[in-house]
Amino acid sequence: MAETLRVGVLVGSTRPARRARAVAEWICAGPEAGELALDLTVVDLEEVGLPMLAEPDPPAFGRYALEHTKAWAELVAGFDAYVLVSPEYNHSTTAVLKNALDHLYAEWQDKAVAFAGYGTGGGVRAVEHLRGITAELGMAGVGPQVALDLFEDFDDQGRCRPRARQEEARRRMLTGLARWGRSLRSLRSTPDTLDGERPRLHSPAENAEASAAVERLIETLQGGGETVDADEYDRMFAEDILWGSPYGRTLAGYAPLNAIHHKLMAKRVAPPSRFEPVQVLAPAPGVAVAHIRRRALPDGTDEPGFSEMAMYVLIKRHGTWWLAAAQNTPIADPPGSAQLERKPGEGQDEGR
Ligand SMILES: Cc1cc2nc3c(=O)[nH]c(=O)nc-3n(C[C@H](O)[C@H](O)[C@H](O)COP(=O)(O)O)c2cc1C
Repeated sequence: MAETLRVGVLVGSTRPARRARAVAEWICAGPEAGELALDLTVVDLEEVGLPMLAEPDPPAFGRYALEHTKAWAELVAGFDAYVLVSPEYNHSTTAVLKNALDHLYAEWQDKAVAFAGYGTGGGVRAVEHLRGITAELGMAGVGPQVALDLFEDFDDQGRCRPRARQEEARRRMLTGLARWGRSLRSLRSTPDTLDGERPRLHSPAENAEASAAVERLIETLQGGGETVDADEYDRMFAEDILWGSPYGRTLAGYAPLNAIHHKLMAKRVAPPSRFEPVQVLAPAPGVAVAHIRRRALPDGTDEPGFSEMAMYVLIKRHGTWWLAAAQNTPIADPPGSAQLERKPGEGQDEGR
């Protein structure tokens, strides 16, 4: 049996009394889900509730600033493929669907997309526009599409009652989506590389999920630190965690590390601190590498508190993210840093 393909079926209209939701539900209700091993999920843009795009950076930069964009990115990143359900509005798609597509970039890339349009002419002009938009987002548009006729495939109350032949169209569309969706999975798990070139490992499509996992780790570290609760602090630590102390010790395994954290917390060794994400690398699905800073909060004296920078490796196992490894290093001036901070003009001849 093929591995299940996660498909988001986007409801592309948010009008009261819209038909889009019923069309999306009809797409999901057929026998294809079981036959083709598709996990079809209705994603209702009415419930998502995105405002008009207001991100300061273009989405292609991958630096989402707004919480609703980050949540949308995480939702979209979780799917392998999509069906866009769109009515035809003035010979195009809807503003709400275009806005939802415009919000993101990497999360759509290298994924298959299929189209279910409807209107007086089957919504084909809306779908033609969507094909161009999704191609620009790096998506692979499946050829067979659903084109429901407002007068033939809905009843007098506007309920979705497609003719029998539309079931065949749905089957052809979802079969194409399943084939391309599965093929593109291997492309997404292979980082970009050209023969003979050094590979770039970071996968923008995995970034939102990896960053969310890192945020959750920071919450447990911050929460555990503030409540002086070593078990909360270590909540995401794997059974066989590898831990590098700031002073060169290697600790292996949850039990000894947790015992040490209990002791250190009882002695209040680490000062009140703030944990901050610095950089996240998502080199493969289910892998996150992160630099996280623990900055000691000012305590009213001139002495800087003990702060650390840590490199963390998180792994997703059976749907849950775990901390596999960590290396902590004290934040301190490097040896010889006084020389590096010479005033301009000093030591100009050095090294000539
Ligand atoms: C703003 C607007 C523009 C429309 N323009 C078209 C059109 O160009 N071609 C068409 O076939 N139907 C057009 N229609 C009819 C819609 O296809 C029909 O009302 C459909 O039910 C709208 O989808 P919804 O109910 O899911 O919002 C338009 C409807 C609206 C609200």
